[in-house]
Amino acid sequence: MNVPLLDLVAQYQAIKEEVLPALMRVVERQHFILGEEVGALEQAIAALSGTRFGIGCASGTDALLLPLRALDLRPGDEVITPSFTFFATAGTIHNAGGTPVFVDIDAATFNLSPAAVEAAITPRTRAIVVVHLFGQMAAMEAILAIARRHGLPIIEDAAQAIGARRQIDGAWQVAGSLGQVGAFSFFPSKNLGGWGDGGMMVTQDEALADRLRRLRTHGGAKQYHHEEVGFNSRLDTLQAAVLLAKLPHLASWSAARREKAARYTEAFAGHPAVCPPGVDPANEHIFHQYTIRVERRDALVAHLKARGIGCAVYYPLALHLQPCFAHLGYGRGSLPATEAAMAAVLSIPIYPELTAAQQDAVVGAVNAFYQ
Ligand SMILES: Cc1ncc(COP(=O)(O)O)c(C=O)c1O
Repeated sequence: MNVPLLDLVAQYQAIKEEVLPALMRVVERQHFILGEEVGALEQAIAALSGTRFGIGCASGTDALLLPLRALDLRPGDEVITPSFTFFATAGTIHNAGGTPVFVDIDAATFNLSPAAVEAAITPRTRAIVVVHLFGQMAAMEAILAIARRHGLPIIEDAAQAIGARRQIDGAWQVAGSLGQVGAFSFFPSKNLGGWGDGGMMVTQDEALADRLRRLRTHGGAKQYHHEEVGFNSRLDTLQAAVLLAKLPHLASWSAARREKAARYTEAFAGHPAVCPPGVDPANEHIFHQYTIRVERRDALVAHLKARGIGCAVYYPLALHLQPCFAHLGYGRGSLPATEAAMAAVLSIPIYPELTAAQQDAVVGAVNAFYQ
């Protein structure tokens, strides 16, 4: 049985009657830039993430870049971030004029280690970019306490974690609501994916929301007047219409991902060569990815691919070892938990439409490799 890593066609078939008329309404109106669906989506995502303001932008990458630009970094300013993440997390720090300072992760959850964050703070530290990797939140209460002690803003890279929650002091807190800004991606493969690129910033801070809105339209609140140099980074009305039509399904899609994850975790329990992902008991994971740690990973990848089972390595080369960051001077061995993860991780198919038979085929193919 062929099992793709992700099946967006299955999702499209299930919801096309809802999405296509919404798209056609935009087409009929011909208001493609910052049309009314963008405003409606901004309000809806702000509400979903427990924040006051949502600001749509062109991608998840820009949803990081614009708040980093709003920090007004100067050469030599440092921004602490994990190395075990998608490139955009650190690429945007560089492009905003800062220096990424890479720190290690907690081996079980793949998320930023609070102790490593604290150890990396120097007089040049200006901010922390926390990533909620694979759909579960980082240990925000500990990282927030450190940030508060040192007077540092936090930007949450919630690109993979829309709607993920964490219990802090007995109350549920939503990804994106705890930092100065939360950044979401609507890349098509995300839990809430558009039909093209898109992103959203959320914040509780009105003055910052105004600045982010300016930064996405060439740095000006009034057309042809520019207080600063910004970007052209707007969310298309067509994308907002797609996302608004999909949004009512998000909670049930994430619940379905959790069910499939629990089924995998049960199937792999006690496995001698496969370690299921650790879930922090304080977290409600949305399983953007289901990422196992395995022995002889690269041979397993070849075995699965030969049997039509989709899988992917997120991420094969951590950012501190990327050629573009070689000048920062990190060598092999500098972030041990990150380097152990990149050598052993494997993400296997997880999406709401994945059937039990498909899951059995994935588990069967993994088991066959180790027998
Ligand atoms: C952790 C993380 N940060 C940032 C991004 C960037 O988002 P986008 O691809 O929408 O620019 C992504 C998505 O690819 C991501 O997974």
